[in-house]
Amino acid sequence: MSGTGTIAARVKRLDNAGEDILRVVLKPEGADRFPGWAPGAHIDLVLPIAAGDGEPVVRQYSLCSDPQDLSEYQIAVLRDPNSRGGSSWIHDQLKEGGPITIGMPRNHFPFQPGQRTLFIAGGIGITPILPMARQAEAEGRDWRMVVAVRSRQRLPLGDDLAGLPQERIHYHFDEEAGLLDLASLLAPLGSETIVYSCGPKPLLNALQERNSGAPWQFRFERFAAEPVVTGGNRPFDIICRSSGKRLHVPADKSILQVLREVGIKVESSCRDGVCGTCEVRVLSGTPEHRDSVLTPEEREEGGYMMVCVSRAVSDVLELDI
Ligand code: FES
Repeated sequence: MSGTGTIAARVKRLDNAGEDILRVVLKPEGADRFPGWAPGAHIDLVLPIAAGDGEPVVRQYSLCSDPQDLSEYQIAVLRDPNSRGGSSWIHDQLKEGGPITIGMPRNHFPFQPGQRTLFIAGGIGITPILPMARQAEAEGRDWRMVVAVRSRQRLPLGDDLAGLPQERIHYHFDEEAGLLDLASLLAPLGSETIVYSCGPKPLLNALQERNSGAPWQFRFERFAAEPVVTGGNRPFDIICRSSGKRLHVPADKSILQVLREVGIKVESSCRDGVCGTCEVRVLSGTPEHRDSVLTPEEREEGGYMMVCVSRAVSDVLELDI
């Protein structure tokens, strides 16, 4: 599922959903229902504060409520100690009853149940996993979940988790049990198992490493783009198909910035390579992908790129804009 455009919403309720975790319940403004969504989807929150480039700060949060109940959307926001302004504004400034602009639900982490499913949620990464587990349970699937958190106090959305069959869930608290033993957890998994995971970078990197050459399938979503190790930014040109304009992208600017400067609007949100909003079709040339949205297969095909972060290997890229 994907969507563009924004939706006017209002804050219906704010609850504490764990240490430093705020549950934000939104209701539609001027309508009865929000647009539909499926587990794994996220929305943008467009905050009334400006980022360094003068654009509003936009943050992505996974929907964690019931997709059947479109009278509200729920998200859970962890206060990030390294917040660039987004999570601290939501924790400190967002008020019940206040207006907020959100984006249409988009889904780059769709849930397609396999014969067996193992969910591995790291901390606040439980948010996209929770609706997936509810769906798996409703469909009578064979599923298990591991929720790994630093301490009991930091368990996010404990009330929601309590509504699922507890015999299927293993709660792992680092402070009590040390680091999660991934080797033992993953060793018995065969090709019939799909592992869905969302969580902090070290967890996802470790899972990705262990998945290499392993029979089980792996699907995951990152909170933030992986740093890209490259030989630096090289300049290149882009050709915009609709206008025929040829534009130079210098080493210190992104394609998105160059397009904006000449008044060509491409929708964007995170500007960090994680949300997929700025996806553009590549007509010719070879992109250098730096996003965390496209799968290795999609990168290989080279048909699309995220123009907020990705660059070019070839001297020229022709884009469908
Ligand atoms: S704006 Fe989010 S991936 Fe480009």
